[in-house]
Amino acid sequence: MVAENKGIEPGGGIVLDGISHAYSGRKALDNVSLTVPRGESMALLGPNGAGKSTLLNILCGLIRPDAGRAIVAGVDVSKHSSEARQNIGVVFQDDSLDDRLSAWENLEFHGLVYGMDKPSRARRIDEVLALVELSEWAENPVRTFSGGMKRRLEIARALMHEPRILILDEPTVGLDAQTRAKIWSYLNQQRRERDLSVFVTTHYIEEAESCEAICVIDHGKVQVQGPPADLKARYGTSLIRCLPRSPEVRQKLLEKYPEAQRLSGDRLGIVVRDQAMIDAFLSEFGSSLKEILIDEPSLETVFLAITGREMRERDEVNSKARGKRNKRI
Ligand SMILES: Nc1ncnc2c1ncn2[C@@H]1O[C@H](COP(=O)(O)OP(=O)(O)OP(=O)(O)O)[C@@H](O)[C@H]1O
Ligand SMILES: [Mg+2]
Repeated sequence: MVAENKGIEPGGGIVLDGISHAYSGRKALDNVSLTVPRGESMALLGPNGAGKSTLLNILCGLIRPDAGRAIVAGVDVSKHSSEARQNIGVVFQDDSLDDRLSAWENLEFHGLVYGMDKPSRARRIDEVLALVELSEWAENPVRTFSGGMKRRLEIARALMHEPRILILDEPTVGLDAQTRAKIWSYLNQQRRERDLSVFVTTHYIEEAESCEAICVIDHGKVQVQGPPADLKARYGTSLIRCLPRSPEVRQKLLEKYPEAQRLSGDRLGIVVRDQAMIDAFLSEFGSSLKEILIDEPSLETVFLAITGREMRERDEVNSKARGKRNKRI
């Protein structure tokens, strides 16, 4: 589990303590508590409508919670919102760049809003553009940028005022695998070099894998939180994929495991919860198989066990959302 007390000290990471919030009487968050220690990252996972963006907006001070405290880098967001905001860099779920301005102008404007002086702005614009590999494009209007370039610029802008906490709402949705990998390499580099705490929502499960901790929320409540390895050990399931030697063995297998999935070419897929079930399967059928593959427990299966939904369903919804986003631009 995430350390209970680390991060509460001034200058620490993120602490959410008993956060609840309702929209017109409908509960969106219910008593959410979590901790992200300084320099660590947490991925927030949950089905559509789980409350992820609401939680992020509370962390940024954009929504005041009905109950509970949000503390970033030692500062209570509700009590000292402008001081807290200085410590936070945000990438919102929807694009928020000014398309008519150049990359440089977007960053310059952000620096002005955050009260940075001229030399600091000039230095930092150079640094963040270099980090996200957009230096050559500094003078180009943002409306000419691809989706991936825009997201990279949003990350550059979030880092512009040297925050200690970075909050990202689906920063990589709809991007190709190479761009997503690049974005994560910028984030990890900043985390290492600047001891940055990163709080991110993503529906790409492999991205969550690289975070120190994962928090799954559903219906506004924290379902589980902890390091990926712990969650996999506790909630993950394995899949045995096998090809029986004969139709008779296949029939016997289906009788023993009626829930078995019918896979391609007469193969069967059998979900198993633990090593004891794997051992039992092998001792009974191990010598009657032509082929066997055992998939280790994955975060995908953890998500499924906890929410009853697959991450893939969200994928479809999000790619539609991304399509809309691109059309608007
Ligand atoms: N401004 C709003 N007014 C009323 N209800 C809202 C508002 N914003 C969100 N909600 C509702 O609160 C719940 C949580 O929404 P939220 O946007 O936080 O979910 P999410 O986990 O970010 O979803 P997604 O994966 O689709 O981005 C949903 O039921 C949503 O309909
Ligand atoms: Mg959202």
